[in-house]
Amino acid sequence: MAALLDMRFLFRKVKNISSFIPRRHRMKKKWATNQPRIPSTRLALQSFDMNYGVQLGERWPSVRVSLLSEQKYGALINNFSAQQELMADLERQGAQDFVQEAFRTWGVTKDTPQSILLGTGGAVSDCDTGGDEADMPPSISPNVKCFVFPKGDITRFHSARPDSTGLLGYYLLDAASLLPVLALDVHDGHTVLDLCAAPGGKTLALLQTQACRHLALNDSSVSRTARLRRVLQSYIPREHRSEDQVRITSFEGRTWVELEGETFDRVLVDVPCTTDRHALMEEENNIFKRSRTKERQRLPLLQTQLLLAGIRAARPGGAVMYSTCSLSQLQNECVVERAVQLAQEELGISVHVQDLAPLARLFGDCFHFAKDLRLGELVLPHLTANFGPIYFCKLCRVN
Ligand SMILES: C[S@@+](CC[C@H](N)C(=O)[O-])C[C@H]1O[C@@H](n2cnc3c(N)ncnc32)[C@H](O)[C@@H]1O
Repeated sequence: MAALLDMRFLFRKVKNISSFIPRRHRMKKKWATNQPRIPSTRLALQSFDMNYGVQLGERWPSVRVSLLSEQKYGALINNFSAQQELMADLERQGAQDFVQEAFRTWGVTKDTPQSILLGTGGAVSDCDTGGDEADMPPSISPNVKCFVFPKGDITRFHSARPDSTGLLGYYLLDAASLLPVLALDVHDGHTVLDLCAAPGGKTLALLQTQACRHLALNDSSVSRTARLRRVLQSYIPREHRSEDQVRITSFEGRTWVELEGETFDRVLVDVPCTTDRHALMEEENNIFKRSRTKERQRLPLLQTQLLLAGIRAARPGGAVMYSTCSLSQLQNECVVERAVQLAQEELGISVHVQDLAPLARLFGDCFHFAKDLRLGELVLPHLTANFGPIYFCKLCRVN
């Protein structure tokens, strides 16, 4: 018993031993070097398990395993290159243009007027018309072509090769990321702002519509804007990207209204987000790094400010598309709700959220859409069609 008491006394002394070491010889414990480093990808998975487990409930295990599996790509065809032979070759490999496939499927349905699906006149949804018509499916540009391999087929595309003029034949991207561009419903002669444009996948899709009279491309990152320029050089002939057709800037998107307010027919706000797939797979540039915790926590605020800037840049009657590649409700519906509220209360701008359910039905064979969203549409990753996550919500500016 006495020995035990002695041990306890000794232990207490040892615990306090640092108080006997002169201050100048004490070593501060360096947390960053001494603690085992937890990979950011693991921190991302822990966070997603906690949040998406609650948000998605019993769907989370299936979405989780898809997110951790190889992503599926689509090949966005470059109309400015020699593409006929290329498309025939993709078809021989078993890939199909998912946009044309949807037209084919729905073209035979008697209650779906072809004019609406193809945008060839007649009743098309446009924010300008307002009211009930704004809830019709958007007219889809027949010029956007994107090949994907069928459900369950995980064949990979080869990298694109340049044609005889040096332009690349297709751009590989998450095929679901085209949906916000298709739903934006760009008509001939429109002026379009892509507020966060780099590296340029959606920009290329906007250019494929061949409908933009003027396209303003912005991204606050100078290095990413340089990448966007290189992408355009590889895909778009010089005569289609003159200064009055395509303008590239590196401004802070949140203050865009100081440059141009109430101007654009269409605005795309494809915001920085947790990029869920990237966060689970890559250490490099991972937003779940401990050093980026504050930046991550501030994302919903930045996203709201960018969406508000997009709303202010649109003309009355114009449309704004908000999109992310995250499943997070906080970065998706909550941002839209907050921006709509602030636009009304602080700026006196009314916006109407367009119902995109008809578009989700149109592409329902190719993508898995979440069924219970309050606002907008969300493509959920699924093992048979491993695209997404992509969230998109279309706002019509009323006044
Ligand atoms: C999701 S990425 C855009 C992807 C692009 N739309 C595409 O399809 O290739 C988000 C972009 O927002 C840019 N960004 C971040 N903060 C910004 C800000 N405050 N203003 C403008 N751009 C910003 C980032 O540099 C990044 O390139």
